[in-house]
Amino acid sequence: MIKTIIWKNNTVVLIDQNALPLAERYVACKSYKEVISCIKDLTVRGAPAIGVAAAMGAALGALRLPSGTPEKFRKNFFAICEEIAKARPTARNLFWALERMKKVIDPKNKETQSSLVKELINEAGRICSEDIEINRQMGKYGSPLFTDGDNVLTHCNAGALATAGYGTALGVIRAARAQGKRLHIYVDETRPVLQGARLTAWELKKEKIPFTLITDNMAGFLMQQKKIDKIIVGADRIAANGDAANKIGTYSLAVLEGAHGIPFYIAAPLSTIDVSLKTGASIPIEERKNEEVTGFKGVRSAPIGTKVYNPAFDVTPARFITEIITEKGILKKPFRLSIARAYKGEKNS
Ligand code: MRU
Repeated sequence: MIKTIIWKNNTVVLIDQNALPLAERYVACKSYKEVISCIKDLTVRGAPAIGVAAAMGAALGALRLPSGTPEKFRKNFFAICEEIAKARPTARNLFWALERMKKVIDPKNKETQSSLVKELINEAGRICSEDIEINRQMGKYGSPLFTDGDNVLTHCNAGALATAGYGTALGVIRAARAQGKRLHIYVDETRPVLQGARLTAWELKKEKIPFTLITDNMAGFLMQQKKIDKIIVGADRIAANGDAANKIGTYSLAVLEGAHGIPFYIAAPLSTIDVSLKTGASIPIEERKNEEVTGFKGVRSAPIGTKVYNPAFDVTPARFITEIITEKGILKKPFRLSIARAYKGEKNS
């Protein structure tokens, strides 16, 4: 299995997603600041993977703190978490993971600094291993939605690389394939950073899952030609009403899906759902640098001085989403109710 992120000899080792698919190489972060720059520059990306990286980065920060009073240690650790929280704004998992890490340093916890650090490292490790298990659960619940012979469209990369391993949307595809269902995947290239062409195509090729790469603007034509049976994507943040932020271009697919009557599934862990936001209108949308749009990997394609708008995510209104696949089952409409039930630990389906 692809190891997106591991804790090794007190370093955080990440597969370099900017180098893929041309080179498979790893980056070893020795400080939390290095982890922050890897999150910012997309060496590690994808909502659950960002969450795991944030947790491990926080543990790394704690490990390197000088010994001091419990109050000072707690204050410094919280400051590190705050700094990591600024790395990227949209993926809910980043903030969820940091909240979980902060809970370890409860003021009532009177342990020594070195045992608190050990607990933090263990908690980050748990966040990582639980993520793989959660993805497998999503695969279990989501795979029955797919039938032998389906042509499935996916956008961006919601695979092993976007998580600690296995994947959300691609995890469901993996699980369906493991049940012997022959699926063919249409992979949206995903402008401007090409997570589809570079990362999803790399993962599917590695797993020998048949796929065809298309540019994002081809999806509508394929739907019109009845070449797509189902759409499955991941999510970066889902509001309490089911509105879902995902990679820019997802909303366009959802509108097209609505017009063509194609089922549109989102696969995401509960840690991606932000029940504090009533609707998707309050989800913060990251804007990234102009160079991602004016060229690719340093090769310019637009005239110097071209004005650019580069939102990295868009929000798909809940009405376009057929069902949300989580580790606790399939969430059906009305999502406000099914999400609330899942949060209370009640079974959905
Ligand atoms: O900018 P990225 O590459 O971090 O965006 C990633 C996505 O939008 C994914 O689709 C999303 O995080 C779901 S991943 C399981």
